[in-house]
Amino acid sequence: MSKQTIRDKMWIGNEWADAKNGGTFASINPATHDTIAEVASGQAEDIDRAVESARAALSNPEWRDMNPHKRSRLLWKLADAVQMNADELGALETADNGKPYFESRQVDLPSVIENLRYFAGLANKIEGATIPVAGPFLNYTLREPVGVVGCITPWNFPLSLATWKVAPALACGNAVILKPAEQTPLSSLRLAELAADVGFPSGVFNVVPGFGDTAGAALVAHPGVDAVAFTGSTDVGKMVMRSCADTLKKVSLELGGKSPNIVLADADIRAAVRGAITGIFYGKGEVCAAGSRVLVEREVYDDFLEEFTARAEKMTIGDPMDPSTRLGAIVSEEQLERVLGYVESGKNDGAQLVTGGEQATVNGKGNFVTATVFADVEPNMTIAQEEIFGPVAAVIPVEDVDHAIKVANDTMYGLASGVWTRDIGKAHRVARDLQAGTVWINTYNQYDSASPFGGYKASGFGRDLGHEAALEKYTQTKSVWVAVDG
Ligand code: NAI
Ligand code: MG
Repeated sequence: MSKQTIRDKMWIGNEWADAKNGGTFASINPATHDTIAEVASGQAEDIDRAVESARAALSNPEWRDMNPHKRSRLLWKLADAVQMNADELGALETADNGKPYFESRQVDLPSVIENLRYFAGLANKIEGATIPVAGPFLNYTLREPVGVVGCITPWNFPLSLATWKVAPALACGNAVILKPAEQTPLSSLRLAELAADVGFPSGVFNVVPGFGDTAGAALVAHPGVDAVAFTGSTDVGKMVMRSCADTLKKVSLELGGKSPNIVLADADIRAAVRGAITGIFYGKGEVCAAGSRVLVEREVYDDFLEEFTARAEKMTIGDPMDPSTRLGAIVSEEQLERVLGYVESGKNDGAQLVTGGEQATVNGKGNFVTATVFADVEPNMTIAQEEIFGPVAAVIPVEDVDHAIKVANDTMYGLASGVWTRDIGKAHRVARDLQAGTVWINTYNQYDSASPFGGYKASGFGRDLGHEAALEKYTQTKSVWVAVDG
């Protein structure tokens, strides 16, 4: 594995810069508690600089008038550069986030590369329309960039979620300021550097690391930012939306979830168990779409629970850099405390802790939690309503398909969902009735650059991925009227 290139400054106008006040914060490896880097901590004045740089890029003919084929090639070249550096970026992501290297290198990085290539393909296919109107007029539309896009990303899939936003925004000709999560800034900084290496002009892609209430809030409030694309918690999402109202910014929010994974009695139970395991334990359960509520039809409940528990017990924690590790370190001590707090809450509410629920270390270090299964969970318990964002499954018995749908929809969230059944009619009926932005039938945690992803209800609005969602979020439409000789 190649050595990691660690960048610890802000990236503004294709140059490294310290925060104006010189402040830094530690980016920590949660598996060892080592400080990987002291990173520049962006403040409002640094956001000002980044906005200035991005606005200059927007009016710079080198970017504004760049032929779309070239914009496409730049994104494709960035994908190639990421591919060339995939081992290093994977290791960096694992060090910063604690997720298994297997996940960073074999899942996240390939999807990052695919996203960049998918949106490279969009850059030269952004078309307007000619519209039949009354009168002697030619009417046509232009799809123009929105302008400066502020992208705020969380710590669970730092590089992947950065490209979900940055790639389509750049494909559509915008300039971007990315504020990565304070827990995991390093891979985004390296991505921006690679973008400059392959030829993105100065100011087109800036990264200002820092905290949410300083760098994040300043980015959202800045009048020189035209749109905000946010992924994170529902509470912060509400604050972001309120702030965007003041400057009338276009905003899209991808927020939390409490996704139901429904196992019906006629399912292939072994497959359902496997799907439910990856549904909740992939990414340590720090996944917005995690199948954190497993709803199992009573008839197969005992059999399912037995097999599910046995498999959960095989999800052993380990050194995230060990290629065989499948359950890594919880991202931060704060998050560790949250997860353990929810384990206590489940116990106090009378749910049955079947396995796990313990804090652990690897080589005497790190923030680890063993794979946790609660059974006999009541739908109204806190662990069945609130997003835990950790390796904690709440298994809930349900009587039949109608009951399953009712329980599934009975949360404020609506991000993703799953259903396991061999009955094709039932499967589509459930897909229709679930209030969620994604439904997986006989599978879980599938994503593709081409397929839109986002929330219903308190899980937000706006979609990431897919070409329609990209045009919706990152372009605006101008209608042009031309008088013709009547
Ligand atoms: P968070 O919502 O605070 O952080 C997400 C991003 O928003 C980070 O980049 C953060 O710096 C930024 N941010 C925070 N406050 C901000 C503000 N006032 N203005 C602008 N940006 C701001 O999430 P946090 O505290 O890291 O995690 C708390 C919980 O949120 C998790 O336990 C989980 O339940 C949920 N969450 C959901 C995510 C998802 O993928 N939907 C991702 C991260 C967290
Ligand atoms: Mg926070």
